[in-house]
Amino acid sequence: MSDNLIDGAGPSLDAFETLAKTRRSVRDFLPDPIPDALLWRLLDIARWAPSGYNLQPTRFVVVTDAALCERLLPACMDQRQITQAPAVVVFAGDRDVFATNFERVVRMELQNGSISPEYEAKLREFVPLAFSTGPAGLGWLWKATIAPIARLFRPIPSMPAVHRSAWLIKQVSLSAMVFMLAAHAAGLATVPMEGFDEGRLKRVLGLPRSLIVPMIVPVGYAAPHRLSKTRLGVDALVGMRGGEVINSLEWIPK
Ligand SMILES: Cc1cc2nc3c(=O)[nH]c(=O)nc-3n(C[C@H](O)[C@H](O)[C@H](O)COP(=O)(O)O)c2cc1C
Repeated sequence: MSDNLIDGAGPSLDAFETLAKTRRSVRDFLPDPIPDALLWRLLDIARWAPSGYNLQPTRFVVVTDAALCERLLPACMDQRQITQAPAVVVFAGDRDVFATNFERVVRMELQNGSISPEYEAKLREFVPLAFSTGPAGLGWLWKATIAPIARLFRPIPSMPAVHRSAWLIKQVSLSAMVFMLAAHAAGLATVPMEGFDEGRLKRVLGLPRSLIVPMIVPVGYAAPHRLSKTRLGVDALVGMRGGEVINSLEWIPK
């Protein structure tokens, strides 16, 4: 590990670097259950992941029942980690989060001094506009048609009203990553999974239409394994703009 550490960077960066670089996707688990208090603590940590406008749309559905995991298996392309791991955490995104959380989050942030009244005013002006799907849910159609034209004349960000799933996938993925790193720090192993049939998985779990499921994460104690992990070099991935060009990337024009 120490080969890439920068001298003097500080123990917390060293510790975090070790954590991030030693996390592995593990697909073989011991049958040992995870103590409830530990699992709960990991989920409590994951809720501190950032989210757009702090709306917190991630929902954590924890499946520990072996029979239910068995029923999930076909929807998960028979990937064995579903039934081997003592728990599978389904990371879901709530399509209705604006209606459920906007008011209470803004009020909570104001009360706790997390935002200024000026920022509150901005949130109240922009967020409803970004999320509202208008009368009879048809407003998104208007936004989907008008936004690309308006964008020719002024910058317009992508709107959750139009791209709700893409917006949710970003939020949910950040929560899942925090969860996986926390699990690793606790001596547990995880594997992020997108290899499943979302509709079938939702039916087996009885999840409502308002939830989308971008990712599921089996979690447990790793069985002995010897797979190593590999990545492309950092200079193949990083492009610097506004400073010295530190590498010769093919994918970014000079
Ligand atoms: C979004 C996403 C979906 C993934 N889906 C699966 C999956 O369905 N099944 C699986 O075995 N691994 C899955 N993986 C794990 C990757 O194969 C793994 O992260 C990658 O090979 C790098 O290995 P590492 O996680 O050990 O660093 C997925 C990873 C990500 C980020």
